[in-house]
Amino acid sequence: MNMVDSFEKLPVRIYPDLKEGSKFAAKEIAALIQAKKAAGATCVLGLATGSTPRSMYAELVRMHKEEGLSFKNVVTFNLDEYYPIENDALQSYNRFMHVHLFDHIDIDPANIHIPNGEIPKERIKAHCLEYEKMIEEAGGIDLQILGIGNNGHIGFNEPGDDLPVRTHRVRLMESTRRDNAMLFDNDPSRVPAEALSMGIGTILRARRIVLVATGEKKAECIRQATGGRLMTRVPASMLQVHADVELILDREAASLI
Ligand code: GLP
Repeated sequence: MNMVDSFEKLPVRIYPDLKEGSKFAAKEIAALIQAKKAAGATCVLGLATGSTPRSMYAELVRMHKEEGLSFKNVVTFNLDEYYPIENDALQSYNRFMHVHLFDHIDIDPANIHIPNGEIPKERIKAHCLEYEKMIEEAGGIDLQILGIGNNGHIGFNEPGDDLPVRTHRVRLMESTRRDNAMLFDNDPSRVPAEALSMGIGTILRARRIVLVATGEKKAECIRQATGGRLMTRVPASMLQVHADVELILDREAASLI
């Protein structure tokens, strides 16, 4: 490394708590949907799961119910899904999205895309290629929402010597299975060993990216992701090459930057 110091910084907004940050993110999504609608265009959203975006989805549902925000012109692509998993399993990301968002809004079900955890093994490659093609045919992702794993992963792009560019099947790290064991009776061995995930390149092709993170546990990976260096062992650090990315953090997640 011949760099003594670096001063690049990702734009960061710090909110007192997750609720405030989520409201901000939901407002941005709503404004984009409405602007696209006014232009007679569809709005292509990349969506994330995990505990962090739950309150953002709750706010979007509230805006739909109380303020008439319509999702009729919205097309969505989720980042990832466990593999294998049944679509309606309690822990599937498919079910998560329906429970927290899709079941409560007026989106056309045909516009919802989530990697399919039920696909037979021999069809995975074709499914991943198809997923990429569908994103392209939809015109690309206008706004990608991200969370971040404790190990710095985005989607399920796990730290390693290299990072996959496109949608792929991935073996989950043991630490990720531990972090995600809550819905699996706190038993990491019950968390599926693999997942399907957009690649880093898929994510970086989105026109705008908003990453939401909260809590002390995320402080270290946020520090590494924003420190001015690209590290494949911190997949979120790749976001630093993107021209339009913003981090929405609470004070704890921002405490080391
Ligand atoms: C999972 C998902 C990620 C998500 C991460 C963080 O691993 N694949 O997309 O960002 O969890 O989840 P949480 O928001 O619960 O901390």
